[in-house]
Amino acid sequence: MENLKEQAGVRAAQYVTDGMTVGLGTGSTAYYFVQELGRRLKEEGLQIKAVTTSSRTSKQARELGIPLLDIDEVESIDLTVDGADEVDKDFNGIKGGGGALLMEKVVALPSQHYIWVVDETKLVNQLGAFKLPVEVVRYGAKQVFRRFEKAGYRPSLRLQDGQPYLTDMQNFIIDLDLKAIPDPEALALELDQMVGVVEHGLFNGLVDTVIVAGQTGLQILEKNK
Ligand code: A5P
Repeated sequence: MENLKEQAGVRAAQYVTDGMTVGLGTGSTAYYFVQELGRRLKEEGLQIKAVTTSSRTSKQARELGIPLLDIDEVESIDLTVDGADEVDKDFNGIKGGGGALLMEKVVALPSQHYIWVVDETKLVNQLGAFKLPVEVVRYGAKQVFRRFEKAGYRPSLRLQDGQPYLTDMQNFIIDLDLKAIPDPEALALELDQMVGVVEHGLFNGLVDTVIVAGQTGLQILEKNK
């Protein structure tokens, strides 16, 4: 599996060229993309600037000597490469398994080209087997939790070492065990409108290219092609 993730990450790095501003994703697959960029910087003299989607990725990028910009210093991002937890055939997906969904979405939106790197186990017919992460403000988080319970969304507060998991933005995450999401658009709208919800892990139609690593090789899925 690690090898598949590495293949996808390294392949995505081929899209990066001199002068680009690049969005660096988070997670165990995006990790290999960032490592490969670091290698290219060192060995090929690749010239890029980057924005990151988590403190973890910032640390990795700094260690590799990748020059970083603050998200608000950039008007647009040429290319962002990130992982995903599930992807359907309409290029909708779930992200946030690693807790970075808010920063990931903020970076995805101004990206001209947005690529996901996944292994083939992430491709699904319908989203929802993976628990949908929802980032909520800490104040009144239990109120939001109860609303999810009432809606039948089977929420659980994400924990780390027995304590509520804190995102880079100091919020909580509630994971929804939905089993199936028949209408991702409608659910996204509902969550967007809920007071206390900062962001959710539904990334509907944002990605334009998905690099899938499988046992038989790499597959590149492109939207509208
Ligand atoms: C981080 O919050 C996530 O959105 C990751 O991008 C996603 O969970 C994929 O991670 P892996 O590549 O580690 O599976």
